[in-house]
Amino acid sequence: MNKNIKIKSYKIPPDFLKHSNINLKQYKTLYRQSIKKPGHFWATQAKKFISWFSPWKKISTGSLKKLNMRWFVGGKLNACYNCVDRHLETRTNQIAIIWQGDNPNDSKTITYGELYDKICRFANVLKDHGIKKGDRVCIYLPMIPEIIISMLACARIGAIHSVVFGGFSPESLKTRILDAECRLVITADESIRGGKYIPLKKNVDIAIKKCPKVHKVIVVKRTGNPITMHRKRDIWYHEAMMGVDAKCPPKKMDANDPLFILYTSGSTGNPKGVLHTIAGYMVYVTMSFKYIFDFHDGDIYWCTADLGWITGHSYLLYGPLANGGTTLLFEGVPNYPNFSRYWEIIDKYKVNIFYTAPTAIRALRHEGDKWVNKTSRKSLKLLGTVGEPINPDVWEWYYNVVGNAKCPIVDTWWQTETGGILISPLPGATPLKPGSAAWPFFGIVPEIVNDKGKVIKNNNPGRLVIKQSWPGFMKTIYGDRKRFVDTYFKEVPGRYLTGDGAYRDKDGYIWITGREDDVIKVSGHRIGTGEIESALLTVQQVSEAAVVAIPHEVKGQAIFAYVVTKSGAKSDALKKRLNAQVHRVIGPIANLEYVQFVKALPKTRSGKIMRRILRKIASSEFDDLGDTSTLADPSVVDTLIAERKKVSNEAKGRRQ
Ligand code: WTA
Repeated sequence: MNKNIKIKSYKIPPDFLKHSNINLKQYKTLYRQSIKKPGHFWATQAKKFISWFSPWKKISTGSLKKLNMRWFVGGKLNACYNCVDRHLETRTNQIAIIWQGDNPNDSKTITYGELYDKICRFANVLKDHGIKKGDRVCIYLPMIPEIIISMLACARIGAIHSVVFGGFSPESLKTRILDAECRLVITADESIRGGKYIPLKKNVDIAIKKCPKVHKVIVVKRTGNPITMHRKRDIWYHEAMMGVDAKCPPKKMDANDPLFILYTSGSTGNPKGVLHTIAGYMVYVTMSFKYIFDFHDGDIYWCTADLGWITGHSYLLYGPLANGGTTLLFEGVPNYPNFSRYWEIIDKYKVNIFYTAPTAIRALRHEGDKWVNKTSRKSLKLLGTVGEPINPDVWEWYYNVVGNAKCPIVDTWWQTETGGILISPLPGATPLKPGSAAWPFFGIVPEIVNDKGKVIKNNNPGRLVIKQSWPGFMKTIYGDRKRFVDTYFKEVPGRYLTGDGAYRDKDGYIWITGREDDVIKVSGHRIGTGEIESALLTVQQVSEAAVVAIPHEVKGQAIFAYVVTKSGAKSDALKKRLNAQVHRVIGPIANLEYVQFVKALPKTRSGKIMRRILRKIASSEFDDLGDTSTLADPSVVDTLIAERKKVSNEAKGRRQ
């Protein structure tokens, strides 16, 4: 974000103030309390928002410095009980889930009473197939109600779910199943998105050929198209659910027992299994959902994120259901059957709170206002965004065109690791500045530091770190404590290193500038450049590869791959093959937007690739390449520039 752009700030729409949960004064007082006396603050919230089987003995122990933080020590609870059972007394007939299928005519609703029944039955199915407390269950399902039933059934019996996004390839699925040592996989015959069918069961069959621990696969019938069922291993979900006992008491779990593992990309190596524990996560997401989305009883809430990502976990499932809300689950995509899809769904179900990603907003804005203006969106009272920085002009379009200038926007900054939102406006409290995630949430102390770990102020950009422990933070990387410590705590000891760059303006507003490491965000999907490079290196002709991100108007960032081939081979056919291989290894979300064949990569004398230079050249910023004196062979840069210019000229020529 350019600091010199003049940003207009927006007051909270007056109608909104009439009903908001927290105003500015309350925010300031509560925030002060939350960071001065975190123990007292979180104890109050934990009592208010969560039902406990037995209370904690100590509110927290340890610290970020010692890396041994634990919250609600000794408390007993169950996440599924908090999302479902405790609402039954008052909400048995209230809709818990509105499901909207990919096809506009395909939809259904599930009440809290029905959800309870299905979860209990499915929990018994899992138990019948040998799943017990602590076992890992992989869930590779489309956005259908069974994904929520599966996640909550695991939580009910103390099994740890590991949801894998349905867009990942069999290879990525295999890596995740193996790393978490899952014993059972839940999938569907196929998924449908935008009218296209994706062969989930077939992908599972390929993935688990090399996963000896998987002994059962439960298959939901979504499309009914023919698939292969392995007699001894595969079970139909609908058959298993028949005749199974409808009672299954929730397991009394320890506050610090794991709830789930969710894989996410880092700078290096394979994706990391981020492990979240029950109590801290549940307290944090339940309470942050209530305040940040200004949730009120009866609100219809829609988060468009897939349940394969953290946003789906925290703010489609756990946060809304723990608050007794009605959450909308959408199977499809924003542009099918046409570009009005989101807005039509909002009108159809009278959605009040809508939470999506900048990439979707940019794509829909690109199609013109007419698709929005065809609908009323009268029910909306709040809009949210997550996943990447949102440009001020895109923010204004979202505010004025989608929200009719009456809905505050919460630009929520957070990560898989943080469990819940850490920086965001509170809609009834914070005057809005388009493009800024604004102020820290309760209990969160962000700092912006330089390379030496010293705090910097006054609009100066630096690395965003978090100073104090909060309940929603991950416990570890599954099976790799050392990687947890090295990734997040080594460079700035005693602080959680987020990997993002940011600056803070004179009003205390935080502006996130994007990732500072080798993680990129393509259409909001988090991908490690190292993963893509490894995939490229599996192609026989490739001898070296370096991947960087370049800005993209709709996707936010796009993948740019520099490839050195053996014997200098280069052709469009080879480009296609490289892209196909990346799709095969990771999944279609990792699409190579540009492939540039080069003679050599810029390296330091110790052999480290200088990505800073590659990033600039990819974006055609040739004038300010910074210090190139440490390069082993500085002439490589001139060749790279010439190669880049040649390719852009050819592309321009083709367009003319
Ligand atoms: C980016 C998604 C700017 C950031 C919940 C972070 C954002 C990464 C915002 C985490 C935002 C998320 N403004 N950037 N409001 N929200 N990010 O783990 O770079 O998929 O580090 O979690 O998304 O991505 P993840």
